[in-house]
Amino acid sequence: MRTAQRGDKRQSDVWRLAAAATSDTLRAGMKNLWRALQFFRADLPLVAAATGLLVLSVGAGVLKPWPLALIVDSILGAKPLPNWLGARLDGVSQPAQLAILAGAVLAVHFGQGALAAAHNYLLIRVGLRGLARVRQTVFHWLLRLSMRYHQSSNLGDLMYRATWDTYAFQTLFQQGLFTFITATLSLVLMLTVMARLNVTLTYMAAAALPLLVVSMRIFSAKMKTKGVEAHKADGQVASLIHEGIAALPLIHTCAREETEESRFNERVEEARASRLSQHGWEILYLAVIALVFGVAASGIIWLGARQVQEGQLSVGGLLVFVAYLGQLHEPLSQLSHIGVILSDASAGTCRVFEVLDTPEEVKDAPDARALPDSHSPGDRVGALSFERVSFGYQPEQPILRELTFELAAGESAAVIGPSGAGKTTLLQLLPRFYDPQEGVVRLDGVDLRQIRLRDLRLRVAYVMQEPMLLPGTIAENIGCARPGATMEEIMNAATASYADGFIDALPRRYETMVGEGAARLSVGERQRLNLARAFLKNAPILVLDEPTSALDAESEAAVLAGLEKLKRGRTTLLVTHRVGSLHGLDRILVLDKGRLVEDGRPQDLLTDAAGYYTRLTRVNRRA
Ligand SMILES: Nc1ncnc2c1ncn2[C@@H]1O[C@H](COP(=O)(O)OP(=O)(O)OP(=O)(O)O)[C@@H](O)[C@H]1O
Ligand SMILES: [Mg+2]
Repeated sequence: MRTAQRGDKRQSDVWRLAAAATSDTLRAGMKNLWRALQFFRADLPLVAAATGLLVLSVGAGVLKPWPLALIVDSILGAKPLPNWLGARLDGVSQPAQLAILAGAVLAVHFGQGALAAAHNYLLIRVGLRGLARVRQTVFHWLLRLSMRYHQSSNLGDLMYRATWDTYAFQTLFQQGLFTFITATLSLVLMLTVMARLNVTLTYMAAAALPLLVVSMRIFSAKMKTKGVEAHKADGQVASLIHEGIAALPLIHTCAREETEESRFNERVEEARASRLSQHGWEILYLAVIALVFGVAASGIIWLGARQVQEGQLSVGGLLVFVAYLGQLHEPLSQLSHIGVILSDASAGTCRVFEVLDTPEEVKDAPDARALPDSHSPGDRVGALSFERVSFGYQPEQPILRELTFELAAGESAAVIGPSGAGKTTLLQLLPRFYDPQEGVVRLDGVDLRQIRLRDLRLRVAYVMQEPMLLPGTIAENIGCARPGATMEEIMNAATASYADGFIDALPRRYETMVGEGAARLSVGERQRLNLARAFLKNAPILVLDEPTSALDAESEAAVLAGLEKLKRGRTTLLVTHRVGSLHGLDRILVLDKGRLVEDGRPQDLLTDAAGYYTRLTRVNRRA
């Protein structure tokens, strides 16, 4: 007995939990929907116009079965025409009355069609404008999210979110919100007219509504989970395509086509299964809804026919009723489909909101300082100091350990050390690609985190180890370093970085497009374009990560001579493995496993026979 009671209690707990979970999901869903709809707020006047057209077209829809009812009852049958019409058609012959009523059918259908078309056009227009806004917001945010976020995310999946998942907003607005309004409005209007016609039959039709709502609530949580899974699986397929094509040369050289293909096929298979399961639940749900409709329809037809037999309802009245029932089926089935649409679309919007809700890691402090736009030539700016700086890409795995050193404004230093020592990582702290976990990096005595990010980045010319290009022309690619630079300045920068030679040989010279990944430029050519940016930028801090590693000896010598001039008066940090590049630098910093192990003037470091710098020089001399 007691066991049975405990069992009951447990069961009721389960129900309570389930009910709470459902209402939580519902609340979360509504919040998500409300948030998604904010993207359409700017078009409120257009939305209002579309709603107006919608009301008119729903009204015209309700008029549709009436001409037929009048024909059946009053022209074919013996019932007199309603007063308002009878007075107008008095004295008109029967065939003419028939023609007028047939004309009314045409007018109502045409009017409704035109109103619906105008409404749909407005809706699509607003839907697409909202979609564009979402995409702009997502891209805006993607550009501001930290390197850490991008390096730990999957590019293909992010692309899928930004291009495909964003469609969910349009769907939510057009097929979710507006279908809901249309369907509810039609339903209310039709049920009102039906109730005036025959109350009993109307009750019967309305009985389908609560059943519909219950089925919607039972199925929607499941369909949403399945929707999220399916979107995720599609995102993974997209990411494999992206990675596969990006690594194509490697796949070719390793003859891995089949391995990659079978991995891809597995993911495609997973995505297929996931979609199938999502659609399976949708179909089950729609089948339940169809059953509910079927029961209501058969009841109404049975009862209506009996009422006609008993003389309580005219044949025309039954026809209007059956026509409404047919029409009622549409908003009801639309409402039932909304469950499916909302589940799938909210899965998409959730994935987009996940991106938008990722916090910016590196951002302006609220009290961040602006740096002056320009400084007079005599100003000594660009003093750098590292104070016990520690940093790791994963906090538990430090890459830089307690680095402390200072560079006076205008001083130049080489950062050398074995591969993987943390040289690139060190340089990346200067434009704040990352912030240190411990310690402070200062520019002219100010913590970098207290300087406006944009101002800081305009002051650092950074030539990256892996030369990057923007999709655009050569001129844009150099000019991006200093907005507003003239063509002459761009060309001077290209000459200084020894890039002018290959640019002049290109068919459209500075207007040549260097597309995605700059497939048409060699590594050395790309490196020279990157260097040209540093020459153009004219920034007080110059950061160079193996800038000449891909250049031939002759170009390297020329570029180094140019750099020699460029670094004058600028605080310079140069990472290099080549002793030849160290000429004329004031300081050498040697990093090993993230620690600063040597720091001094080149000639002083040479006194330590076992030091890294001495060994490097010795090896180079021998070579
Ligand atoms: N984005 C990243 N996420 C996690 N670990 C990273 C990342 N980038 C670099 N590392 C690790 O940090 C360490 C230092 O890398 P870094 O690129 O700073 O070395 P480096 O001194 O510039 O080497 P090289 O001379 O080969 O360019 C390496 O062990 C590397 O594996
Ligand atoms: Mg490096």
